[in-house]
Amino acid sequence: MVPILVTGAAVSAEGGLPLGVVVGASRGLGLALSESLLDAGYYVLAASRSKVESRAHLEWVAADMSLPGGPAAIIDAVDGRPVDCIVYNVGIWESAGIDEVSGPELESILRVNLTSAVQVLHGLRDGLRRAQGLVVLIGSTCGLPNEGASGLAYTASKWGLRGLASALRESLRADAVRVTCVSIGSTATELSEGAVDTVLSVHGGRRMPVDDVQAVLKCLLSLSPAATVKELWMPATMDSDA
Ligand SMILES: NC(=O)c1ccc[n+]([C@@H]2O[C@H](COP(=O)([O-])OP(=O)(O)OC[C@H]3O[C@@H](n4cnc5c(N)ncnc54)[C@H](OP(=O)(O)O)[C@@H]3O)[C@@H](O)[C@H]2O)c1
Repeated sequence: MVPILVTGAAVSAEGGLPLGVVVGASRGLGLALSESLLDAGYYVLAASRSKVESRAHLEWVAADMSLPGGPAAIIDAVDGRPVDCIVYNVGIWESAGIDEVSGPELESILRVNLTSAVQVLHGLRDGLRRAQGLVVLIGSTCGLPNEGASGLAYTASKWGLRGLASALRESLRADAVRVTCVSIGSTATELSEGAVDTVLSVHGGRRMPVDDVQAVLKCLLSLSPAATVKELWMPATMDSDA
């Protein structure tokens, strides 16, 4: 069956606003992407372990993606509503090299970055269908060919996100759900949006300002439901590792 494509997000959440979910939203890139969704007129469920101050159109969801109950907390918070956009931003990486990193740390990285992503998206599939939603997975250039990354679990998880994006896209294509994996390179997530000049002068093009990733999300949100961007490879210009 060919789905009927509607323009604009479905009316899903409080006050008739479309619903956006950001996983890993308390700081850095996730906080910036939450701001982008708010600017675009979404009601945002912001999931993380540390509290995000609730404010107009933003509600914090306490959820730890390293625990089996983390994905369920997000699915419960959505509570059956249509999901217009979900950004899976959370990502953690090894604290040490292959000879020092522990088995439990590797397992935790895989769970936070990949297993929980699979579970959140599986649990929200009907909400995505109902809204003909947009899924944005924040990957890494470590998940791209010939990048030279060496973190076992981080690299595997970021490659895995691209596979997840592909499988989810195919599974929900008939429902007009769009799935994009954005594999970003070094990003100055310690500086909030609007600090482009500072980032350029401090990092000289080896790290991107979060504003660049915000611009990508804004673009994806602006596309018609007939257009799918499968993947974006987005290294920092001067980062020769990527
Ligand atoms: N920064 C870079 O240069 C870079 C490069 C390539 C890709 N990326 C990707 O970009 C994404 C964001 O990176 P970032 O630098 O902004 O990371 P970050 O500063 O460490 O922030 C990560 C966010 O995820 C949340 N988080 C961490 N562990 C969590 C858990 N167990 N359960 C729920 N939430 C958790 C954190 O909040 P709480 O601690 O409050 O839970 C925080 O809001 C990641 O996927 C990363 O792999 C970043």
